[in-house]
Amino acid sequence: MAPDLDARILIIDDNPDMVWILQTLLEREGYHEIASATDPGTAVDTFIAFEPDLVLLDLHMPNKNGLDVMAEIKEVARDFVPVVMLTGDLNPEVRLRALGSGAHDFLTKPFEKTEVHLRIRNLLETRRLHKLLRNENELLEKKVAERTQDLERAKVEILQRLAMASEFRDDCTGEHTQRVGELSARMALVLGLSPRQVDLIRAAAPLHDIGKIAVPDHILLKEGRLTTEEWEVMKRHTDTGARMLSKSVSPTLRLGERIALSHHERWDGTGYHGIRAANVPLAARLVTVADAFDAMTHPRPYKEALAVDAAIEEIKSERARQFDPSVVDAFCDAYADMKLAV
Ligand SMILES: [Fe+2]
Repeated sequence: MAPDLDARILIIDDNPDMVWILQTLLEREGYHEIASATDPGTAVDTFIAFEPDLVLLDLHMPNKNGLDVMAEIKEVARDFVPVVMLTGDLNPEVRLRALGSGAHDFLTKPFEKTEVHLRIRNLLETRRLHKLLRNENELLEKKVAERTQDLERAKVEILQRLAMASEFRDDCTGEHTQRVGELSARMALVLGLSPRQVDLIRAAAPLHDIGKIAVPDHILLKEGRLTTEEWEVMKRHTDTGARMLSKSVSPTLRLGERIALSHHERWDGTGYHGIRAANVPLAARLVTVADAFDAMTHPRPYKEALAVDAAIEEIKSERARQFDPSVVDAFCDAYADMKLAV
């Protein structure tokens, strides 16, 4: 095993002669990244600035002994950095105390050249293996995080496709859910939500009507007015959707659950479940407006599309009635920005 001659070695000893002896020994072996500190009071600053791979630390120094300096070093070290105690003291009690405080090895004065080199080489090898292990662990953690993200994406995509499949029954393009997601995200952006929240809303909003999969065709596609019983079945798509998305650990699906349950609430509290104003989750209030606008401006088998200007006026007229006033304002701003293709 060849020594790592590029390793950075810090010598901390109040005696400049001792520093010189060690530095010379190391340089003759081929080490070239060596720093030293003779003032134990500022040794930790040198440690932070130099970022050594190994520290040679004198045990007996005035004002502050080696154990105190070692404690300071342990506190600031971001990684495993071996510390070799330099001592002329062979007292077993002193050695035990040093080992107990975290010293990794000892060198006894006067130094024996071969012993110095062997101990340093072995400890540097330990540090190298330690770094290798840490890097492997970091790599593994990164891979696990990537796989978890892939799984989350796959899960959300499957459910979005299921929502789209349900949508195909009364929207032959199947694009309604995606447009609602995009418009909701644009409004969230106007309202100043964080990029992460905006992305979550974009992914979760298309799931709002997933519960319609349980609504029979003769009710979903009925051209005339629904009977009271049929209307009750239709209204259940919010609870069904929320149940389909419930108990998930995925943040997207958890938000989807809240949106599915509450996207037919009204600001004035006269919606499906009678929840009012800010008690309705914001994401659901956004989807309510986006869903209404998109439904109005696109034809369905049972109705014609409304002109965009008329739909915007309709949305505005429901400000503070069906819709959250601040969301209506955000909708107007977002719409002006994106010039939706309708
Ligand atoms: Fe709905």
